Amino acid sequence: MSRLIIISNRVSAPKESHSGAQGGLAVALQAAIREFGGIWFGWSGETVDHFTGHIHFQRAQGVTTATLDLEEQDIEEYYNGYANRTLWPLFHYRIDLAEYERGFAGGYKRVNERFADTLRPLVEKDDVLWVQDYHMFPLGQELRDRGCKNRIGFFLHIPWPPSRLLATLPEAEALVETMFAYDLVGFHTKEWLDSFRHYATHELGAEEEGDALTFKGRTLRLIVAPIGIDTKEFVEGANGPKARLALRNMRDSAVGRDMIVGVDRLDYSKGLEERFHGYERFLSEHPEERKEVFMLQIAPPSRGAVESYQKIRTKLEGLSGQINGAYADVDWVPIRYVNRGYPRDVLAGIYRAARIGLVTPLRDGMNLVAKEYVAAQDPEDPGVLILSRFAGAAAQLKEAVLVNPFSADEVSDAIMQALRMDLGERKRRWRAMMDNIEQEDVVWWRKLFTDALMGTDGSTPIPADN
Ligand code: ADP
Ligand code: G6P
Repeated sequence: MSRLIIISNRVSAPKESHSGAQGGLAVALQAAIREFGGIWFGWSGETVDHFTGHIHFQRAQGVTTATLDLEEQDIEEYYNGYANRTLWPLFHYRIDLAEYERGFAGGYKRVNERFADTLRPLVEKDDVLWVQDYHMFPLGQELRDRGCKNRIGFFLHIPWPPSRLLATLPEAEALVETMFAYDLVGFHTKEWLDSFRHYATHELGAEEEGDALTFKGRTLRLIVAPIGIDTKEFVEGANGPKARLALRNMRDSAVGRDMIVGVDRLDYSKGLEERFHGYERFLSEHPEERKEVFMLQIAPPSRGAVESYQKIRTKLEGLSGQINGAYADVDWVPIRYVNRGYPRDVLAGIYRAARIGLVTPLRDGMNLVAKEYVAAQDPEDPGVLILSRFAGAAAQLKEAVLVNPFSADEVSDAIMQALRMDLGERKRRWRAMMDNIEQEDVVWWRKLFTDALMGTDGSTPIPADN
């Protein structure tokens, strides 16, 4: 069997339990790589004065990780710069926040070259490579430039923006052209895939045939593969002792009130400001409900070196304070706003204690929190998921209460609808969503992609040296 080399910016070695702001990608890949074996390659999370290319190998629970230290300037230009000041806002449709700086683009290319230089000697003839996410778009091309003829796939965990937005990026054409170094490119939804195809055919001039695109003699295939969670593990965790304890503690502290929960990295794409406004609208329009509910928003800080993240943090502190100031009473606070991470089992207990899961990103590649919330519910008395139409997860979780997160009225109405929903309807909706979450879990996702990459899904095999 071929080895699978997974490459992503963040590499996370397996641990007994997770705490802190571990993103969906890291959590999902741990499960995937454990299942498959192979190497997980990327940044160590450390910085050094001078880049050496030294690789730290580590082996734990069947997963080998190989990581590199980067320079401070690399992190500034590549991670804080091009990845998180340029690509992340642009790809989440926020061109108002996107910063286009040559220095960022240069640092991004340099770091991708450094990854390619170090990874190339590790790659053996039959290895299959799978590159993850927007930090690494040009890595495939850099590897090809170094003579790598292996199969290389790429998966994007964030949305792909519409062509008119992407066109604002000075390097848009070059970036899309480098994608043709890959044999297979995957997206969470058809919408993101269609946007990519639109740019490739309309702006670049690629030829389209079925699920394949050809440009300058290189052919790549496109696939929709929505990522799932490790459902079995999550459900087990939700029924375990730590989750039960967390559930009991939450229930005690709720004193009979219905809890609405939100769990998100503190990111402007998650629509937290709009969510708070929607909840405030609910409080103002339904005075009789005020002391019957409260909202728990858990939002661990993320990417703190980037100004837009500092701003959203300050904004939310102000807004939660304002709402609490306007509505709180001696025996009730409408919003509990918490900025820390929790072990996954504890999180599962908190999800289960919540009558409503409020997941309202303005734009999100997938959103795993929505799936975790559903998986954590008590089948006999499940809570209601309110989900943004603009999250990739909405394409699968059609039985959620779907909302436009930009509309405070819609969010407010959805909260009311969820609170009034009878047990029969809650169970029916939950079962339909859970069927999907059970079937299309993280192992299913990994298999869908790697089978397609290795040509074992019945479609035309991709020659290893094309
Ligand atoms: P993103 O990848 O953009 O952060 P997702 O919803 O897809 O968004 O994934 C977020 C992941 O991070 C989920 O697995 C969630 O459980 C985890 N997470 C988010 N907040 C916390 C927290 N406060 N404590 C622990 N885990 C968290
Ligand atoms: C999203 C991205 C991931 C990223 C994660 C956490 O899920 O798609 O690539 O790892 O957020 O963000 P961070 O910047 O902390 O790695």
